[in-house]
Amino acid sequence: MSETSASAEPVATAPASADFVASDVSVSFGGLVALNSVSLRVTPGQVHGVIGPNGAGKTTLFNVCCGFINPDRGAIEWAGRRQARLRTHHLAGLGIARTLQGVGLFNGMTVLENVMTGLAEQSRAGFWSAAFGLPRSDRDERALRERAWTTLERLGATALADRYPPTLPYPDQKRVALARAIVAEPKLLLLDEPAAGLSEEEMNELGDTVRSLTEDMSIMLVEHHMDLVMRVCDVITVLDFGQVIASGTPDEVRDDPAVIAAYLGAEVDSHDQTPIGKV
Ligand SMILES: Nc1ncnc2c1ncn2[C@@H]1O[C@H](COP(=O)(O)OP(=O)(O)OP(=O)(O)O)[C@@H](O)[C@H]1O
Ligand SMILES: [Mg+2]
Repeated sequence: MSETSASAEPVATAPASADFVASDVSVSFGGLVALNSVSLRVTPGQVHGVIGPNGAGKTTLFNVCCGFINPDRGAIEWAGRRQARLRTHHLAGLGIARTLQGVGLFNGMTVLENVMTGLAEQSRAGFWSAAFGLPRSDRDERALRERAWTTLERLGATALADRYPPTLPYPDQKRVALARAIVAEPKLLLLDEPAAGLSEEEMNELGDTVRSLTEDMSIMLVEHHMDLVMRVCDVITVLDFGQVIASGTPDEVRDDPAVIAAYLGAEVDSHDQTPIGKV
């Protein structure tokens, strides 16, 4: 990270496109070092994968990147600005969106309305007055609905628009959660284990979707499923015991002896990961 570009001022508007940089990030929980001087750079239009065996620090890094956890040391820089005290409620204004491991949809709202909540930050009054039946501008409401509909279209999910989340199969709920994350057209999308609970076919579909999103945004993908990560990522950072043990293209990372060793070691304790050497 360049010293000259560092600034504590918040970014006022979402950047057109930008690098997302984590520099020397360290996090400890009591005596346990979950992240030890971890750095990575997500560049525009790239899918940047973060992988590693169980307990490697992936979720902790994700939480730092979206402002859930304040690192003990290190910094997050976005669009050339240091985000001194990043908080989750800053993300939308910064042009950053995220999905979480759970889907977290509103059960009492239709799919279309759920997707509209992704625009709430941008049009707070319009959306919330609509949600609570207060007087509102019909034109605002229509514009929000149209944007939500277009996003569902992009993800091939318009057939779900009037459904309620509890009536949908899990993969469709995840699609809706993704629609809600991208409806405000973020420049960076942070995905935490988006393939969890998906079949192989659904995972392939997700891979195609993620690739197609790179036209408009960069993506950080924290994921267990090696085959998906290898297929869709441009660059991969591999963590083990809170440290970066390798970083590079899928081919470089796949052949890295440190990575193979980390996964073979992990195989003894874990049955839910494909050893990297077999991909
Ligand atoms: N809130 C917390 N309090 C204490 N220890 C934690 C906390 N969160 C994570 N840890 C520990 O920090 C280390 C890194 O955990 P983290 O959840 O980031 O790993 P991970 O790579 O996401 O693992 P998994 O693949 O199992 O999801 C682990 O040893 C974990 O037990
Ligand atoms: Mg995790």
